[in-house]
Amino acid sequence: MMKAHQQRGRTHTSLPSLITLVAIVSPLASAVPSLTDDSKCECYLTNGTQASFFATHEFLDFRNLAEHAGIPPTITKPNDSGSAPVTSEYFTSKEWTEAFWVLSWNNSHQIREDATVLMVNSPNNVYIEANSDRNPSSQTWLTLRTQRLKDFQTASEIESVAPGFQYLSVRMLARTVGSPGAITALFTYRDADRLADVQESDLEVRTMDPRNTIQYTNQPSYTEEGEEIDHATKNVTLPPGHPDWTHWAVHRLDWTPKETVWYVDGTEVATISFQTPRDPSKVILNAWSDGGEWSGNMSVNDAAYLQIQWLEIVYNATDENPAKRKRNDSGVAAVMPRERDEDGEGGCDVVCSIDETPEPGKPVMLWNNGAMRMVGGGLVAWIPSLVTFGMLALISGGLW
Ligand SMILES: *[C@@H]1O[C@H](CO)[C@@H](O)[C@H](O)[C@H]1NC(C)=O
Ligand SMILES: *[C@@H]1O[C@H](CO)[C@@H](O)[C@H](O)[C@H]1NC(C)=O
Ligand SMILES: *[C@@H]1O[C@H](CO)[C@@H](O)[C@H](O)[C@H]1NC(C)=O
Ligand SMILES: *[C@@H]1O[C@H](CO)[C@@H](O)[C@H](O)[C@H]1NC(C)=O
Ligand SMILES: *[C@@H]1O[C@H](CO)[C@@H](O)[C@H](O)[C@H]1NC(C)=O
Ligand SMILES: *[C@@H]1O[C@H](CO)[C@@H](O)[C@H](O)[C@H]1NC(C)=O
Ligand SMILES: *[C@@H]1O[C@H](CO)[C@@H](O)[C@H](O)[C@H]1NC(C)=O
Repeated sequence: MMKAHQQRGRTHTSLPSLITLVAIVSPLASAVPSLTDDSKCECYLTNGTQASFFATHEFLDFRNLAEHAGIPPTITKPNDSGSAPVTSEYFTSKEWTEAFWVLSWNNSHQIREDATVLMVNSPNNVYIEANSDRNPSSQTWLTLRTQRLKDFQTASEIESVAPGFQYLSVRMLARTVGSPGAITALFTYRDADRLADVQESDLEVRTMDPRNTIQYTNQPSYTEEGEEIDHATKNVTLPPGHPDWTHWAVHRLDWTPKETVWYVDGTEVATISFQTPRDPSKVILNAWSDGGEWSGNMSVNDAAYLQIQWLEIVYNATDENPAKRKRNDSGVAAVMPRERDEDGEGGCDVVCSIDETPEPGKPVMLWNNGAMRMVGGGLVAWIPSLVTFGMLALISGGLW
């Protein structure tokens, strides 16, 4: 009986035609997105509460830079610190210089009211370090160092070359280690003459705080008069089971038009919609202290470090639209002319993700409208019935 039905099923759907069907349908309706590369992606869709489309993706990988590794001895004179050169050729490489500046400003002119020490940002405190963990998860990482010396605090800051990020999702695999009295931070920043006009979304670790608390803020969180603006900032205790800031974790800051959302290892930990930055901004990371109330005081010779294995950003920028450029380079637009924005994806056909990927830095393709159109607009409408038909054929082939 069963055999007879099976035979009948087979006669209705020959094996070659079934394979053809699966071959056509599976790449289009695939549930597991496959690894691709940025040249194929026209935009990136993030997950989370403010899931958004972004035009561009950048990934800076500090995990395999053994040839540049070395811990430069701290420079103990303030003047020499500010004027120090970069610590290795990595910081003159195209990969780095297209993305970041290493800064050397100091607070002697614009000292915060409560600062008690001279703080000098030194290129000497930004370096590639060999991974000395017991079970190393990389060869190297990038270190931002700050250390208290007899006469001053030596500190570090890097700033994006691009001044015009306007909405982004930035992530880093990072940790903070070291002594109390310092701040390590990742933030968006738009300078202004008046404190009240500064726009800034912050992730700050205060090394004097408990290791499971992180401060998230849409600045300014205080007024010129020194009053605190409570709803601009959140002191978050990381959920139980989460690595504290001394352990490697993916810290993520999503700056979107509605609000800024922060995540640790994929779990949302804070959202602030008050004072969400509106205008084009830079991305900055630093490790510092000025002996003031916020950073605290470091004891002489104590140090703290922000260590980063990789840094990843998907973003829109105001100074150019790389998505358009890519689209033209790849010739996709020429093959498939199409109205922009018809589906609210900014005219983006090939949508990728940096969330669903098994390999940090490598996007996966979520879907490709272009491929569907290429096969023929009509096919899209047919996919459900083709799948149903295919499954029926499989069921009838396999069970009956
Ligand atoms: C985003 O997707 C990744 C991979 O599926 C997951 O680990 C993460 O928890 C997700 N994050 C959010 C906020 O949904
Ligand atoms: C540091 O440089 C400034 C000028 O930029 C100079 O006035 C000062 O004397 C220098 N300090 C030392 C200790 O060399
Ligand atoms: C601090 O910065 C000012 C202005 O840029 C510079 O003149 C001075 O030499 C710097 N001081 C130190 C100690 O680096
Ligand atoms: C954040 O909260 C913790 C207690 O949960 C406290 O010890 C710490 O001082 C607070 N940090 C700030 C900046 O308020
Ligand atoms: C930090 O130490 C200096 C002395 O080195 C002191 O004047 C200042 O009050 C201290 N600041 C804090 C916040 O403890
Ligand atoms: C796209 O690129 C071609 C050359 O590859 C160029 O001739 C054309 O002007 C470009 N179109 C746009 C819209 O930039
Ligand atoms: C980024 O730009 C694209 C294309 O213009 C747009 O569709 C998208 O909504 C923008 N993303 C955000 C978060 O504004």
